[in-house]
Amino acid sequence: MSVTVRAAAKINLHLGVGRVRDDGFHPLDTVYQAIGLHDDLTLAPADGLSVVTRVADHIDPTAVPDGDDNVVVRAARLLARRAGRPASGAFEVHKDIPVAGGMAGGSADAAAALVAYDRLHGLRTSDDDLLAVAAELGSDIPFSLVGGTARGVGRGEIVTPVEDAGTWWWVAVPSTEGLSTPAVYRHFDALHPDAPETPASAEPLLAALASGEPVRLARALHNDLQEPAIDLRPELGDLIARGEAEGALRGLVSGSGPTVVFLCDSAAGARETALGLAGAGERVVLTATGPVAGAHVVTTV
Ligand code: C5P
Repeated sequence: MSVTVRAAAKINLHLGVGRVRDDGFHPLDTVYQAIGLHDDLTLAPADGLSVVTRVADHIDPTAVPDGDDNVVVRAARLLARRAGRPASGAFEVHKDIPVAGGMAGGSADAAAALVAYDRLHGLRTSDDDLLAVAAELGSDIPFSLVGGTARGVGRGEIVTPVEDAGTWWWVAVPSTEGLSTPAVYRHFDALHPDAPETPASAEPLLAALASGEPVRLARALHNDLQEPAIDLRPELGDLIARGEAEGALRGLVSGSGPTVVFLCDSAAGARETALGLAGAGERVVLTATGPVAGAHVVTTV
């Protein structure tokens, strides 16, 4: 038997960041949305533990960490240890989500690995336990399990789904070179040494989301990591301006960047923005809708 699990990229519609905590993490009030850009992970039985990664044309294969740094390996080891067994299985990951792009590509793979490992080995881990293991592995991984649209607090790992009846159209432009998430957070600290302990509330964003109106949502989009990301990569500011000139309602750095996402008013608006950006020389332009489901099994053979 082998199991294939699909996990989605995320964007942050709101990312309020507070002053760094004693444990080095930042308190967040965030709203995640899973969008239709996926990694697929297949797990088959094997004696040892192995991971092979295949990437889409737009991804640099050398950017994916291997060995013990690969989050899929860490996820499998953690779940196996809880079950009191040695970790085993052959993972194959097909990546479409930009690496180190601020779209939780690694977190998606980790969430997919947890679901696949649990299923293949018949561990029957409860949802709560799976979320706890996910939180231990990384702040965004519980959301990658849950998917849809959800509010995240704590360091982002405490996730509550929110009602979202919309179909939102996004255009995403990844960069050829990733940005380090810790480096962007460190730069936020340098720019805002007196950041408030309580991050900016996600309430206004949630109200805009509930309205179902793209123009209102566009106005409410908020990312406290955008300023440090643009300070480290000034060309991201130019990219945002270009997409907005091509018809997008609003451009925004995704999470810690460097991927830039554009909210569009419709499928036609997304097509126009994507064509405009491609015509202006962007090599990779992706179009997706959100929200979509969290990590889920798509094939069992
Ligand atoms: O939890 P995760 O492994 O994804 O976090 C990666 C890094 O991002 C952390 O080591 C930390 O530097 C930064 N981070 C943070 N505050 C958060 C989440 C992540 O400072 N809430």
